[in-house]
Amino acid sequence: MGVPDDIDALVDEARAAIAAARSTEDIRNVAALVSGKKSPLAAASRGLGGLEPDARKEAGRRLHEARTTIEDLVERRRTDIKFEELSRQMEDSRVDLTEFIGGSIAAPATRGHLHLVTQTRDALEDVFVGMGFEVAEGPEIETDWFNFGALNIPPAHPARGMWDTFYLNLGAPETTVLRTHTSPVQVHLMEEAVVDGGLPIHAVMPGRCYRRDTPDARHLPVFHQIEGLVVDKGITFADLAGTIEVFTTAYFGPDIHSRLRPAYFPFTEPSAEYEITCTICHGEGCRTCSQTGWIELGGCGMVDPAVFDAVGIDPDQWTGFAFGFGIDRCAQMRHQIADMRALTENDFRFLRQF
Ligand code: DAH
Repeated sequence: MGVPDDIDALVDEARAAIAAARSTEDIRNVAALVSGKKSPLAAASRGLGGLEPDARKEAGRRLHEARTTIEDLVERRRTDIKFEELSRQMEDSRVDLTEFIGGSIAAPATRGHLHLVTQTRDALEDVFVGMGFEVAEGPEIETDWFNFGALNIPPAHPARGMWDTFYLNLGAPETTVLRTHTSPVQVHLMEEAVVDGGLPIHAVMPGRCYRRDTPDARHLPVFHQIEGLVVDKGITFADLAGTIEVFTTAYFGPDIHSRLRPAYFPFTEPSAEYEITCTICHGEGCRTCSQTGWIELGGCGMVDPAVFDAVGIDPDQWTGFAFGFGIDRCAQMRHQIADMRALTENDFRFLRQF
């Protein structure tokens, strides 16, 4: 093969092929095609031998120029491709931080709401505040004295068995427990009242409690109670029953009523269990209420004189009543939640309903 007349055309063809290369592999193949041993350029160089010396010199110079241009174009394209590939790689592995700034761009931040148990606690507080009660709180870690002793439950008293307990520290310097009920807050309020001259007391005390219970449809090992305490002059069991009934109809609705059944608690005398009309069957009798038409919500009674003695209040001057019931149980009854465990499972499909 001779030297092509139009070396410029040969360079133009090479230029187009080089520009079309998209990857490192492409450019390697194109380089072989346009400047390798089998390229038209190499063939042309081989054809130089058949030319006259002058023509050979001239053609040789032009072919050398063409080779330099082509090799230069290949090198430049190779560098560009490397850069393009690196940019693509970086783009692919880039973390889009804007996704996490102030919620995501893809889906706007949704506003949450209070958990049903918190809503229930607030609603219960509202009812009692409307009846003239104050709201107080106490610690979740209690000493043996507050959780048991002052409430007329001495060591080894069988009533301790009613509250399966998480002990944090046994014995010296002091036994501490995760409180098993909110009743110890009664003791705190009464002790403070004795020191500050803060009697009479009309208070409700909501809070979290702990028991060594296995979770089931109606029990949680971590749950919530609301305690009530009235200490005043001339308080009777009728005040207790009236308060419970007013609360029940205010919170559950006019067709739900309360009844008190004799029971035993060491810190009240007499004591009663507090039941409300079953909210599932409205008193007809169903599986949930074991066909009785009533559901137990908590306990109550007149403050035992032994408790007054423990905190230093004169039981001949003052009388009082107390009650305590489950906040989670109230939520369950009011909203007809079949299984209480739903309250702790954080399933949005459940929580969003309230
Ligand atoms: N603390 C009791 C419990 O958790 C409930 C209770 C019963 C509270 C009688 C009271 C009461 O204030 O007077 O089972």
